[in-house]
Amino acid sequence: MKPVRKAVLPVAGLGTRVLPGTKTTPKELLNVVDRPILSYIVAEGRAAGIEHFVFVTGRSKGAIEDYFDHQVELEAQLEAKGKTAILKQLRDELPKAGEMSFVRQMQPLGLGHAVWCARDIIGDEPFAVLLPDVIIDGEPGALSQLVDVYNRVGGNIVAVEQVPMEDTHKYGVVAPSKIDGRLATMSGMVEKPPQGTAPSNLSIAGRYILQPEIFGLLAAQEKGAGNEIQLTDSMARLMGVQDFHAYEYEGATYDCGDKIGLLRANVGLALKRPELAAGARAAVEALLKA
Ligand code: G1P
Repeated sequence: MKPVRKAVLPVAGLGTRVLPGTKTTPKELLNVVDRPILSYIVAEGRAAGIEHFVFVTGRSKGAIEDYFDHQVELEAQLEAKGKTAILKQLRDELPKAGEMSFVRQMQPLGLGHAVWCARDIIGDEPFAVLLPDVIIDGEPGALSQLVDVYNRVGGNIVAVEQVPMEDTHKYGVVAPSKIDGRLATMSGMVEKPPQGTAPSNLSIAGRYILQPEIFGLLAAQEKGAGNEIQLTDSMARLMGVQDFHAYEYEGATYDCGDKIGLLRANVGLALKRPELAAGARAAVEALLKA
């Protein structure tokens, strides 16, 4: 069985739910506590053994490439001022030579199309997909948990989490057939089912391990929910010929794609940082009393 070495990060989305903040800053670079959302996502990938990150970008996303490069003036300033701890942190996060690729999705045709744009760089091996809207705070990280499952059962793995039944229309939803603890085999999946029609309350949570045969199905470029080319639709088709498992990961999910989610992420992750927890708690409690 081939190991999971590469990950696709679709980062072409416009971030309209958090405008105007995303007018000139890609939403994936919005700060959560003291680092961009992408920093958490790449750290999760590296911890899971990812050796190559493929960013599917779009127009006005150039700052993402710059984030993962040296900022020579800044580093010189920090060095001159003796700020070695933060300098080390910045340098530790830089990719190794050749560890990152950037490919453009030139039209916003959907998540399935974005993933398909990475096909040549992924080639003929299993790969992960990490949706950077969602920070998952898990120990081990959500993708590490998925890789662990993949190493046991192979095939394709989709991370899921339980959501209230009335929210299922916002997500891809899986139909589990046999449930064994956190792991389930599946009989189907559907993207954004209309209210009242979801096959379960297990939503697809933005972490996947997929086999390269998905690209052949994505190539058909058929449109689905929202008139977009949906990854879920091609996964549902691939399920006819390959194994798929859903895994309910352990960890806190922060959807950073909207205002309240971003706020939750900032508060929740500050409360988890030993050096910030007491101050964050005091600030939140004071605001709640005001
Ligand atoms: C995408 C996927 C959906 C998944 C969701 C998780 O939807 O298509 O299956 O449940 O991410 O965040 P989007 O949020 O891009 O509409």
